[in-house]
Amino acid sequence: MSRLRLLETSEQPGEEKFQWSLRPTKLTDYIGQRDLLVRLDISIKAAVKRGEPIDHILLYGPPGLGKTTLAHIISNEMSSNIICTSGPVIERSGDLMGILTNLQYADVLFIDEIHRLPRTVEEFLYSAMEDFKIDFIVDKGPFAKTIKVNIKHFTLVGATTRAGLLSSPLRDRFGILHHVDFYTPGELCEIIKRSSNLLNVAIDERGALEIAGRSRGTPRIANRLLRRVRDYADVLGSGKIDYEIALKSLELEGIDSQGLDKIDIAYLKTIIDKYKGGPVGIDAVAATLNEEVDILQDMVEPYLLKIGYLNRSPSGRKVTHSALQHLGYDVSRFL
Ligand code: ADE
Repeated sequence: MSRLRLLETSEQPGEEKFQWSLRPTKLTDYIGQRDLLVRLDISIKAAVKRGEPIDHILLYGPPGLGKTTLAHIISNEMSSNIICTSGPVIERSGDLMGILTNLQYADVLFIDEIHRLPRTVEEFLYSAMEDFKIDFIVDKGPFAKTIKVNIKHFTLVGATTRAGLLSSPLRDRFGILHHVDFYTPGELCEIIKRSSNLLNVAIDERGALEIAGRSRGTPRIANRLLRRVRDYADVLGSGKIDYEIALKSLELEGIDSQGLDKIDIAYLKTIIDKYKGGPVGIDAVAATLNEEVDILQDMVEPYLLKIGYLNRSPSGRKVTHSALQHLGYDVSRFL
């Protein structure tokens, strides 16, 4: 397992349960992603009005932005069951066959990291998505026959970090495509206040904004940082979260004023120190950092691109003047 992946999942015990307890379960409780929510609300209401399952939905965007939460909200709003799995877990078509034949009418099948489904499984899904039929192979060798089995009309909700990673036949079978984008500091501030309320923690506006500004546009990180700041406030403060408490505890966590963590900084410094600021190919950066290209592309680069610290061009990655300034380099050396 890659080093970053380990870091990403090296959460305190109970972290996952903690995150779940804070997730909204209804569209009306969801903060941010306004355009997406308006369109999703219409699709859900139309399906409910017609008494039909909702079309297959593809959600794409960086990790931690609410794709799984949205899948649960969709099933909740449709009053249907949700069955969750992920691309790397399904190794053979047989693994999916059992799941598909057990689905009830209008159930939601959520496949996370759908771009990582093996090609044979992906092809097996095509007729399930399109005609609600699957090919069941009986017998072996010269006696092998394919029988078409009907399955119930279900909704596939697929999630992926990059829509471009999906083959076009699979992508084309989704009727609804939504891009999930980074959240603004204002939206993250609202999410943090909502979470604090659920956790019975007192927090003021400046405290919430300080956490929001360091959360890399990501609710999962915002809630994780809130947990750290709450510990700090309980042990070294009065239990209430204000600006000073938030600032001190986040500095202690090694999260800088832009929300960059050690990995973001190592990535930027590698390009600056080893490749004169770029342009440099992603493979070279990954090799220098001893990291997987996919992990850098999915987890590190999107936010750095978003805040204008990184440029991507056909000749490679290049850090920007804002990144150099933020990290305390003399920009004139890189002109
Ligand atoms: N908790 C995590 N993500 C959230 C969101 N988008 N809205 C409200 N609460 C959340």
